[in-house]
Amino acid sequence: MAEEKKRSTGYHGGTVDTVISVEAVNAQAQAIASKVEVSDLMALAKNDPFLVLEDLHAGYGRMEILHGLNLAVARKQSLCLIGPNGAGKSTILHAIFGFNDIFSGSIKIGDGDAKKDIGALSPSSKLKKAGIAYILQDKSVFPGMTVEENLWMGGFLKDDPKQAKIAAEKVFDKYSRLADRRKHLAKVLSGGERRLLEISRALVMDPEILLVDEPSIGLEPRFIDMVFDILHDLQHNEGKTIVMVEQNAKKGLEFADIGYVLVSGELAIAGTGDELLENPDVGRLFLGG
Ligand SMILES: Nc1ncnc2c1ncn2[C@@H]1O[C@H](COP(=O)(O)OP(=O)(O)O)[C@@H](O)[C@H]1O
Ligand SMILES: [Mg+2]
Repeated sequence: MAEEKKRSTGYHGGTVDTVISVEAVNAQAQAIASKVEVSDLMALAKNDPFLVLEDLHAGYGRMEILHGLNLAVARKQSLCLIGPNGAGKSTILHAIFGFNDIFSGSIKIGDGDAKKDIGALSPSSKLKKAGIAYILQDKSVFPGMTVEENLWMGGFLKDDPKQAKIAAEKVFDKYSRLADRRKHLAKVLSGGERRLLEISRALVMDPEILLVDEPSIGLEPRFIDMVFDILHDLQHNEGKTIVMVEQNAKKGLEFADIGYVLVSGELAIAGTGDELLENPDVGRLFLGG
């Protein structure tokens, strides 16, 4: 509990006196922003991107939150977005999944020249046809349903309900933690188990791209490591492409191949996860160092 309190006060993992206000982080983050070239982003994505956002302007209603955003990530790569509160990190995931309004620019997915613009697809088509899954930031399991029923819900878009059950069994084969609790109501699971259920419910549709919003939020430290281990396995052993938002910038950047710092709807810094971990400005503002 004490740990949670500390974390929710700012970006630093440290004590309250090391925390600076969101406004101050914003101003300082803007000051360290440098021009990020599209060619740099392509190089980070091994010049073979699978998901590309080009000059994307998007937001909610008529309010523009993302002002000409570029993003590129290769197949089986992971990208972590960090930045101050309200910078638009979740909005990027929302735009990719189709939860908000796209004013201009494009979102393309596919290998090489076979890319398709998916900007106009609905979220259910994204999940079913484009292979993109969104793992919710907030608690999204159905507490009154069993673990098994929650997994079946993850397959509600499948043409045949039997397919959802078969896919759920695959998840149980992989995660015995969940299999042992398949008949338990989701509300009795621990925080870590619930997060595992949220992630595995997305796996029922066998997506290629996982959009993950703050996987560590609200979890005890030992579960945070578990969740990152699960995501590591999904990337490296199952070949998933991961775009993640993470408030715990250190964990997120240690995990991810690529890191972007987003400030006020624009890309301020981009580099490999390791480069950002060693960047003194990033350290000062987001790593508590
Ligand atoms: N559903 C929404 N409707 C209107 N504005 C929103 C909505 N969600 C987020 N915003 C606004 O968009 C901006 C970026 O928010 P968000 O992407 O959630 O930031 P982050 O994830 O970086 O903390 C904020 O100013 C926020 O108030
Ligand atoms: Mg967010």
